[in-house]
Amino acid sequence: MDKRNDLANRIEFTVKNLMVLVEPVKELWIGIETNTIPWDICAGWTVVTGVALALRVDRFLISHTRFIEMYPYYPILYKIYAFSVMTAPLWLWAWLQVKRKRDKLKTLTHAFKNSGLQSNIGRLPDLISDHALDPMIRKMRLTNAGFPLGKFIEQTKAIESNLGIFIDTIKENRERRSVDIIYSHYPMGDEVLYSSMETNRPFEFIVGQTRAHTVTASFKDIPHLMVAGETGGGKSTYLRQLIVHIHLKHKTVRFLLIDLKGGLEFSLFENRTQFVVVPSVLAAIEQLKQINKMLDERMAFLKANQCKDIDSYFKKKEKTRTVQLNRHFIVVDEAAEMFLAGHHAKGTDIQAARAILSRVARQGRACGLHLVVATQRPDSRSLDPQVKANLTGVICFKMMNDSSSIAVLGNGRATDLPKIPGRAIWKNGIEMLEVQTPLLSVEEAERLMGPADASPKEKPPQVVEDVPEKSEDQEPANQHEGVETD
Ligand SMILES: Nc1ncnc2c1ncn2[C@@H]1O[C@H](COP(=O)(O)OP(=O)(O)O)[C@@H](O)[C@H]1O
Ligand SMILES: [Mg+2]
Repeated sequence: MDKRNDLANRIEFTVKNLMVLVEPVKELWIGIETNTIPWDICAGWTVVTGVALALRVDRFLISHTRFIEMYPYYPILYKIYAFSVMTAPLWLWAWLQVKRKRDKLKTLTHAFKNSGLQSNIGRLPDLISDHALDPMIRKMRLTNAGFPLGKFIEQTKAIESNLGIFIDTIKENRERRSVDIIYSHYPMGDEVLYSSMETNRPFEFIVGQTRAHTVTASFKDIPHLMVAGETGGGKSTYLRQLIVHIHLKHKTVRFLLIDLKGGLEFSLFENRTQFVVVPSVLAAIEQLKQINKMLDERMAFLKANQCKDIDSYFKKKEKTRTVQLNRHFIVVDEAAEMFLAGHHAKGTDIQAARAILSRVARQGRACGLHLVVATQRPDSRSLDPQVKANLTGVICFKMMNDSSSIAVLGNGRATDLPKIPGRAIWKNGIEMLEVQTPLLSVEEAERLMGPADASPKEKPPQVVEDVPEKSEDQEPANQHEGVETD
């Protein structure tokens, strides 16, 4: 009996020791997958120690100590030694992760006991993994220990206070019998007012507030935007804020606002000189055809002036520029209504509208035309793939299922979002951040915009301005929009 116990103890001891080796390797693997390893430090260390080893600096230093006896002269031992020295920061990093995880497990055990998440037979949820999703957000995966999801959700507040974290979402993976907790060590407001955020650089717009800072971006870098997410997420509110912001900063920018779902979202912009608000598919198609014509004219004009885009035109003709080239924003709320508008318009007209939006998305940047498209559904029927491919900045509010989130962001981050209006993922290239988008109420927007034009009928808003060929009768160049000071 004693012998058997002894053997069991030895096996347990060996397994434990092997785990000491396996765990850091596992952490390294997760680090590579999530790109959280400090590569720059590791690479720097490898280069420096590599050079030192090649110059035999190590042997020189050790030869002055009594450890010279231990220096690995056998080739195989020397290789292991050199490899360990050169990759030391990697192993140190991995070991730190293991330690952090063990500490967390200890705290978790305590927290779950306090939160009542311990079954009658003493089972507790166990930590499977815990890693960063971005610099602010982490994802912890636990075994469910036989508890239903509801039990975890019930204990949200208790888990938060016991672990000192702020939980965004708790999700279940029934097949794996695991639970994912998306959390952060930093709090995030449920509401951020537009008035509390500032950006004064030309053509910069506010994306939102992360747990640490305000995120802004520029239409010069990101010419076209997609705003995605399910109803109630905050798409129309974001568009309202964006339009008001651009209008206040650049009074000469013109807007074509297409809202086919009720037409109420943009009513505050009606009867204003720089705005055209279209509530029907047919009117939208008509306006888009004019935009198409303007795109042709602008391209020809820029070519004639040997400029690759309007920015170079503005720079080149700083002194002599006399032609006004206003920037135009085409904002489409509920884009699917237009692309799926089968019974409201002829198929050929819808095809034409699709083609124009796609062209604006591809060529608009150079001519000062920007596209902002909001949609609930990111599939190819609701939003033209060519348009989608060119909407490089993406603000994605909560999505109910992973497939919609993957279609927009390439991963399930939008399903992980909490159900808070205005909470979104901002995607720009490979960067992905959770933000709370600015809230601007209709009343506040109306106040900022000031009164609408008194007699709109006499002064119809004009969306397309021709590029004049003669320039004598134009205003001086420095009064024109487009003189950007950045
Ligand atoms: N950034 C925000 N912050 C706080 N609340 C918001 C925010 N955006 C939207 N909301 C709230 O959510 C509601 C729905 O927003 P809305 O923009 O109409 O969503 P969507 O257009 O996606 O259906 C709004 O009436 C508002 O009360
Ligand atoms: Mg809406």
